[in-house]
Amino acid sequence: MADAAVLVDFRSDTLTRPSPAMREAMAAAEVGDDVFDEDPTLHELQAHVAALFGHEAALFTPSGTMANQIALQLAVPRGEELLCDAAAHVVSDEIGAAAALGGISTRTWPTAGADLDPAVVLDMIRPDGFVAVPTRAIAVEQTHNRQGGAVIPLATLRSLREAATEAGVHLHCDGARIWHAHVADGVPLDTYGRLFDSLSVCLSKGLGAPVGSLVVGSAERIAAARKLRKRLGGGMRQAGILAAAGLYALRNNIARLAEDHARAHRLAEALAPAGVVDPARIRTNIVPLDLSGAAVDGPAFAAAAREQGILVSVLGRRLVRLVTHLDQTDDGIDHAAKVLPTLL
Ligand SMILES: Cc1ncc(COP(=O)(O)O)c(C=O)c1O
Repeated sequence: MADAAVLVDFRSDTLTRPSPAMREAMAAAEVGDDVFDEDPTLHELQAHVAALFGHEAALFTPSGTMANQIALQLAVPRGEELLCDAAAHVVSDEIGAAAALGGISTRTWPTAGADLDPAVVLDMIRPDGFVAVPTRAIAVEQTHNRQGGAVIPLATLRSLREAATEAGVHLHCDGARIWHAHVADGVPLDTYGRLFDSLSVCLSKGLGAPVGSLVVGSAERIAAARKLRKRLGGGMRQAGILAAAGLYALRNNIARLAEDHARAHRLAEALAPAGVVDPARIRTNIVPLDLSGAAVDGPAFAAAAREQGILVSVLGRRLVRLVTHLDQTDDGIDHAAKVLPTLL
C-alpha cells in the first residue's frame, strides 16, 4: 500500500525549512570571506549571540556537533577526562568524536536529565595523580534531548558551577535547545550563559534556520576555537547568508517556542490515558513515548502512524519520540492528538 500523504512530521525539530521572510533576509545579506574574518553579517551574528549569553565572543560553526567538539577539545587535553550524563549527545550521538578526534576519555553519570544531582558529579571528579585520568571538564545538556527535552533547574546548574569552580574543572553546556529552557523556565539567556565556561547553541533546532551553531566563551577561547574550526575543515567563506538566517531566527522565533511547548503538552495529555507518557514531565517540545506496557512496539506504532500521515522517530524497540516545531499546523496537531491514542 502506498504511504499516506504526510500531514504532520514529528521526527525532529531539525526538519524545518526557512520561511519566505528568512529567505529574503538571506538573499539580502552583506557577505565577505569568513576565513579572512571579513563577513559583516557573521560578525553581527557572533556579537549578538555573545551578548545574549553575557560572554565576550562567539564563533559560528556548521553544526552543533562541531561546536560541542571544538569546546570540549579546547577544554580537555588528549588522554584526560570529560564527565557527562550517560545519554548526553556529546557522548552518545556524535559518532565517538570526543575520543576519535580529541583523544578525550569520557566517564558518565547514570542518566538523570533534569534530576541531575550535583553531589554525584562532584564525587566523580578525579584530581591529577600518578595514574589516574584527571577530570578536566563537565558537560551538561540543556534541554536534555534523550530525556524528553527536560529542563535542568537553575539551582542545580548553580551548584554544579560551584563544584566545578572548587575543583578547577571546565563547565560546558550543550545548549542546542537552551532557548527552549529559557522559554520554559523564564531564566534569562545571560543568566545561563554566565554559569558556563563554554556553550554551544544551535540555530537550526526549533529556531528554524537551515544551518548553524555557535561556540560561546571568552575572547581568548574563541580565538583558539577559530583555529581549531579551520583544522577540522569548518572554515567557511560567504557564510553571512547563513548568519542572516540565524539572526532572523533569533529575532523572530524564540518567543514562539512557547507554542511548540503547548502543542507537545497537548499531545502528551492526549496520549497519557494509554499510559505511555506523563504530561507533567513534558516541559518543552519533545514527547518520548514509553511503549513498554503497550500492545505495539516502536516500529509497529511508527508504521501505523505513517499510514495515517504522521511521522514519528523510533529511538528503541519500545521508545518512540515526537518533536514539535514551527513547521507544524494546528490541524496537524489535532489530527495526531485524535489518531495516535487509537494506535496504542
Ligand atoms: C542536544 C544536542 N546537541 C547537539 C546536537 C548536534 O547538532 P548537529 O546535528 O547540528 O551536529 C544535537 C542534534 O540533534 C542535539 O540534539
